[in-house]
Amino acid sequence: MTDTTDFFAQLRRAPDIESPELVAVDATDRLLLDEAAELIAACGPGEVAVVDDSYGALTLGAVVLHGARDVRVAQDLLVGERALARNAERAGLTGTYRSLPLGPELASGARVVLVQAPKALEALREIAEVLAASAAPDVTVLVGGRVKHMTHAMNDVLRDSFADVSATLARQKSRVLVARGPRPAASSFPRSQEHPDLGLTVRAHGAAFAGTKIDLGTRTLLGALDAAAPAGAALDLGAGTGVLASALARSRPDLTVVAADQSAAAVASAVATAAANGLGDRIRVVRDDAADSLPDASIDLVVCNPPFHVGAAVVTTVADQLFAAAGRVLRPGGELWTVYNSALRYKPALSRLVGPTRVVAQTPKFTVTVSTRR
Ligand SMILES: C[S@@+](CC[C@H](N)C(=O)[O-])C[C@H]1O[C@@H](n2cnc3c(N)ncnc32)[C@H](O)[C@@H]1O
Repeated sequence: MTDTTDFFAQLRRAPDIESPELVAVDATDRLLLDEAAELIAACGPGEVAVVDDSYGALTLGAVVLHGARDVRVAQDLLVGERALARNAERAGLTGTYRSLPLGPELASGARVVLVQAPKALEALREIAEVLAASAAPDVTVLVGGRVKHMTHAMNDVLRDSFADVSATLARQKSRVLVARGPRPAASSFPRSQEHPDLGLTVRAHGAAFAGTKIDLGTRTLLGALDAAAPAGAALDLGAGTGVLASALARSRPDLTVVAADQSAAAVASAVATAAANGLGDRIRVVRDDAADSLPDASIDLVVCNPPFHVGAAVVTTVADQLFAAAGRVLRPGGELWTVYNSALRYKPALSRLVGPTRVVAQTPKFTVTVSTRR
């Protein structure tokens, strides 16, 4: 049997941010793999599936440690998908798994499914619905997470799709929920909500930022965008459900709009939102990392509501990555319009990564700036 410590030590997070305090494999990955060991060993080819593997520990661990073959894996985040591919290549395991969207192709006939619990309950609900609809009747779904992030509401969500839900004992501050007895039902995603005040319908898959609601920061940016310079090509960078892309496309009929996000749920949501507003042929939606599928100096207007979480030092780097991407794809003289929490000091980074930056709107909570590409 392969030495677990040696195997886990090989795994890297790249191309995601690497730093000594950030790990490619966590206690939840280890607990899930231990809890599922016998079940996986009893599976035939194609009977093990994985959802939201962070960097490949679950997928490659199932193969290397427990002999799983032809594992199917769905990861919402593109960086996770790329990290899995790199880890597999380094370990000579390319071809032992297939990356698929969260849907029937992933789940059909699966008998063991390992899930890293998503942050949003709606994301867990969509995963549970997909698995219950297509997995084998004797499937065991194991959902692992950090104890501090797990709530009883997660058990309730799983119970809506599975007859039998129980919890394992916690180990190293992680816990696994075990679901059996799938109750297949029609999917409730994407969800849809009309926003008459904005004249927009928003469609959202479970893991999309803000769901079908419109984030207050997004609203503040929307309120300022009429003043953006005339443009030919626009990019909604980190588009989420595509609210900004749809609003731009509708208000400027000559504009070509690209909506880019690294989340599969966001991309599917942005496509659905564009279609719901009759803008399907006006908005091109791409799944990439920080707009890396777009050429340099090809865009006149970038709009961006970057992710932010107070308290985690690394997260500024995520916003910086998006600002640097905006600087790269904008042509000289093009504009980045962005919104951020007024407590954050993003102006120096915007000036450095894009160009001269001025505040165009400010509330106690949010600041909207425009940066002109030098
Ligand atoms: C705060 S949300 C804003 C979503 C949407 N624009 C809105 O205003 O509702 C930030 C979005 O950025 C996306 N994102 C984060 N890092 C990214 C990256 N490296 N490349 C592309 N998108 C990214 C997230 O998936 C998320 O959808």
